[in-house]
Amino acid sequence: MKNELILNKPDDMHLHLREGEILGFVLKDTASQFARAIVMPNLNTPVTTVALAKSYYHVIKGYGYNFEPLMTLYLTNSLSKEEIKKAKESEIIHGIKLYPSGVTTNSKSGISSIDSCFNLFEEMEKNDLPLLVHGEVSDPKVDIFDREKMFIDKYLTRICKNFPSLRIVFEHISTKDSVEFVMNASSMVAATITPQHAMLSRNDLLSGGIKPHNYCLPILKREIHQKAILEAAISGNSKFFLGTDSAPHLKSEKESSCGCAGVYSARTAIELYAEIFDKNDSLGKLSDFSSKFGADFYGLPRNQDKIRLIRKDHEIPHQLEFKNNHITPFLAGQTIHWQIS
Ligand code: DOR
Ligand code: ZN
Repeated sequence: MKNELILNKPDDMHLHLREGEILGFVLKDTASQFARAIVMPNLNTPVTTVALAKSYYHVIKGYGYNFEPLMTLYLTNSLSKEEIKKAKESEIIHGIKLYPSGVTTNSKSGISSIDSCFNLFEEMEKNDLPLLVHGEVSDPKVDIFDREKMFIDKYLTRICKNFPSLRIVFEHISTKDSVEFVMNASSMVAATITPQHAMLSRNDLLSGGIKPHNYCLPILKREIHQKAILEAAISGNSKFFLGTDSAPHLKSEKESSCGCAGVYSARTAIELYAEIFDKNDSLGKLSDFSSKFGADFYGLPRNQDKIRLIRKDHEIPHQLEFKNNHITPFLAGQTIHWQIS
């Protein structure tokens, strides 16, 4: 039995760092494990321009961690082709994030007509700037469990067909259909996998009492989907790589009559993935998933620094103090068996 694990420093290819005081709090957790992260642009004022992305980048760098934020732009219908070119030239922007309007937290400035963005996809393809998709339709009439599959059928298939050289990351996939879609797509299409979608099914959200801290979007699905996500993560297929979607909300905003979507996993992120891979006899494949496939897809150099994990039981805290409130970490109170050392 392996008791120690040395990994090249991993990258988190999907992360919410937020802004203001909470940024310092969550950045510390991520920077202690990861070399880089793709930073989501869904701030209260979305990061819609290169200038906003640059200023956000400098705020993050200002904390002084040995950590590189990989910035993204928030796609709106008013994004210009010029701005896409500027984003590519900036060298700090690594993707453009498509949120269907209303689909999730801070997405109201997102896209209400995806078809009207095709000219922008063309420009992104020309500039080789990846499209990152929150792949769910936002039509409130569509059943929440079907929104991801419908996004594939209505939009993603067509986007891939029309823009064969556009790199696309299908973010935080949650269904077997998405796994199959990505596997059958060209090498330009990849997906991120979160700990919660690999570990939990909708029973962990809804059975025996509602668990607001397991509520995220895309919503957890049936066990058959969770198993497919898990299999994809440990498959060794380079199209699937680590992206936590760690998304902090205050405890009071999660435990509410209208609770926010988001799971805060950053405190123990790499340990959670070690737990997943170990439990499925695949520890040997973790390093590629966490530290190689994502970097390769984004055309970034692989990290050379190392981190060390040891087999050691520890309990995830019930809550983390933040100002006069708390943040409840993913799997609060549960014991995991790997610890960063
Ligand atoms: O659960 C989620 N939380 N899913 C998202 O797409 C957004 C995120 C957030 O920003 O809170
Ligand atoms: Zn996200």
